[in-house]
Amino acid sequence: MVLNFQNPSLSELLSVLNPGLSMASEEVLFVQGGRPLCGEAEVQGSKNAALPMLAASLLATEGQTVLHRVPPVKDVLVAMEVLRRLGAKVDYDIRAETAVIDACDIEEFRLPEELTSRFRASLLFIGPLLGRFRRAWISEVGGCTIGSRPTDYHYRGFARLGARVEGVAGGGIDVVADELNGASMYCDLPSHTGVENLVMASCLARGESVIENAASDPEIVDFVALLRKMGARVEGAGTRRVQIAGVEGLVGAEHTVMYDRLDAGLLMMAGAITGGDIALKGVVRDHLHVFEAKLQQMGVEVAAAGECVRVKGPQTLSPINVVTTFYPGFPTDLQPGIMALACIAGGDSYIRETVFEDRLGHVKNLRAFGARVSPEKDRLVIVHGPAQLRGAQVKAMDIRAGAACVLAGLAAEGRTGIHNLYQLDRGHAHIERRLRGLGAELERL
Ligand code: EPU
Repeated sequence: MVLNFQNPSLSELLSVLNPGLSMASEEVLFVQGGRPLCGEAEVQGSKNAALPMLAASLLATEGQTVLHRVPPVKDVLVAMEVLRRLGAKVDYDIRAETAVIDACDIEEFRLPEELTSRFRASLLFIGPLLGRFRRAWISEVGGCTIGSRPTDYHYRGFARLGARVEGVAGGGIDVVADELNGASMYCDLPSHTGVENLVMASCLARGESVIENAASDPEIVDFVALLRKMGARVEGAGTRRVQIAGVEGLVGAEHTVMYDRLDAGLLMMAGAITGGDIALKGVVRDHLHVFEAKLQQMGVEVAAAGECVRVKGPQTLSPINVVTTFYPGFPTDLQPGIMALACIAGGDSYIRETVFEDRLGHVKNLRAFGARVSPEKDRLVIVHGPAQLRGAQVKAMDIRAGAACVLAGLAAEGRTGIHNLYQLDRGHAHIERRLRGLGAELERL
């Protein structure tokens, strides 16, 4: 099915794509726990690589941008709708997971408020709009409630390039430049979308730019690979120092989005927490070194098996120490999930969140399953395992907290209901279909 994003409304579109992808948040995912998973599943394309690539398509003033393996998750669908509202032509073939974007004739630089309020990654549209039109307007950004999530690196970087960042009476932020000139920029912490945004704003600036203390996540490397195909001159992606030499213009290009390491992590943990034995296609082990090492410390076997990675959970998981940090450290996005595993591990686990100041909301949910988790102190929680988890009624607070609920539900005795499913759907596509393929009992109502 090829969907043309020119006509239907977003909610029509989402319900056509898949009834399970509608915007309704009253949907509930019921999980009947206690079954060891077995069989094969495929990892989806990376949400966090696809989002900046969709934004980057705005930089092309000639030709189409063709992206393959674009996952049909809600944040990505909303991002495509943002492109459409800016005037781009967007076709998304849901079966082939290919998006074709033609942004050559757009003239709009104001981002649609009701969409940008849904996800934080809408910030990523400012960089390319500023680069192309020397102007962008945004009202507010939404996203996961995992801390204050400041935006100072983005706006400070735009200012370094020569833009004025002005709050507008009546709301919103106007970012305007008479001209953009290459500059030296710095992130106090290696910000993932910060780097992507500043790279996009710098691509069409005059002269050389450099971003120091850049994040080095694989999604940034993949995103820069697309930009380079489009004609951008960017060096150093994947290191702490990214350099950009401004060019006159960029053209559309074709690219296949990398596999999603966070979706891979969720599926691997689903195999592990159920004591299952599963094979996963699309796990790039190079992107998951520390995470894989932690699973192995818990007693999980992870091994190559042809083009798949085999994950075999032990009878009893061992407890673990985890400190989240920037890539290549343990990813903050997999912290809620590994905490679910720690709940049934045979002993005390220590889990410290250092990237976001408020990413422990799932502790409450895990307690509802019967887990014994100490009160948080300085973003450290101690999980006292093993607990016998029992099915619970819980609410997904953000994408990855929702993933932790799915994991706990798979391991629990009895039936779990996960509410506020919209959050999980923002980041994981067809999760019940893929887990059902591994023998799990789930249904969405
Ligand atoms: N930070 C600032 N100022 C800024 C930007 C960031 O202080 O202007 C701080 C943040 O508060 C945080 C740290 O820098 O302490 C790193 O945040 P970062 O900017 O890297 O986060 P992000 O770019 O907003 C992306 C992912 C998140 C993921 C984080 C960390 C996308 C679209 N989002 O967010 O993904 O958790 O990097 O790896 O790429 C998710 O997929 O569920 C998700 C939340």
